[in-house]
Amino acid sequence: MTRSIEVLFSPAESSALIRRDLGRSACVVLDILRATTSMMTALANGAEAIIPAGEIPEALAIKEERPDVLLAGERDGLRIRANQSGGIDFDFGNSPREFIPDKVRGKTIVMTTTNGTRALRSCAHAETVLIGSFLNLRAIVNWIRRELPPHLILVCSGTHSQAALEDTLAAGALCERLWPYYASGQVADSAEIARRIYPLLQADLLGAMKHSRNGQRLLNHPELRGDVHFCVQRETLSFVAGLHTDGTVRKLACESPLSGDTTTQYSRPAA
Ligand code: MLT
Repeated sequence: MTRSIEVLFSPAESSALIRRDLGRSACVVLDILRATTSMMTALANGAEAIIPAGEIPEALAIKEERPDVLLAGERDGLRIRANQSGGIDFDFGNSPREFIPDKVRGKTIVMTTTNGTRALRSCAHAETVLIGSFLNLRAIVNWIRRELPPHLILVCSGTHSQAALEDTLAAGALCERLWPYYASGQVADSAEIARRIYPLLQADLLGAMKHSRNGQRLLNHPELRGDVHFCVQRETLSFVAGLHTDGTVRKLACESPLSGDTTTQYSRPAA
């Protein structure tokens, strides 16, 4: 079978995934600033699972059924407060630095964000859905090299209704490293675009964030500025996480040394 690689830049493209047959596709969802970076950090710090919810009422309904879960999420970048949720202050915003071991160990976290959790939900029917971040690029690359999904779709969550530079750069980093495995197949122009942009900016990702709409917004906020530094770190985590068939995001493979391939075989867990 001919392999294919494609990048979706904008929320309009990712929401159209709902109507596509993704039965032989692996999607890597990227919301670098900050949802997918926060998910990876929470899991790294011992969270049991993340449940992505599209909207605030959906997150609240899960909390009603399962009072043990913690609530996380943002609107306009800031933690969801009682006046937006009908009375409940969320436990976390969407800053990866909030998800510290003492707060998340053993917990299930219901998360709703403006773009990231929606992008995840739009490809939930794919054969595989991986959580993308700069923190664990190599682990993702190793997983894809090993499994070689026939159709690879890099889903950039974007900012509001637009493409986001940070997500495009992460998609470009993946395209660059995976090129030897997909270049002889069907390569969408979008993958070519992302692959060619990444080398131009990769030496100073933090500097590049000053040219991103979301990056600027966070950098201008005294309490959130540190998130941008955090989210552009590369290779600090060595595991892969994915959306399971029960709708939860969990670790998929055992941790492996940063310099080596992961050796654990992956099979998508049943609900
Ligand atoms: C999103 O899901 O749109 C982002 O993660 C927004 C943010 O963190 O501010």
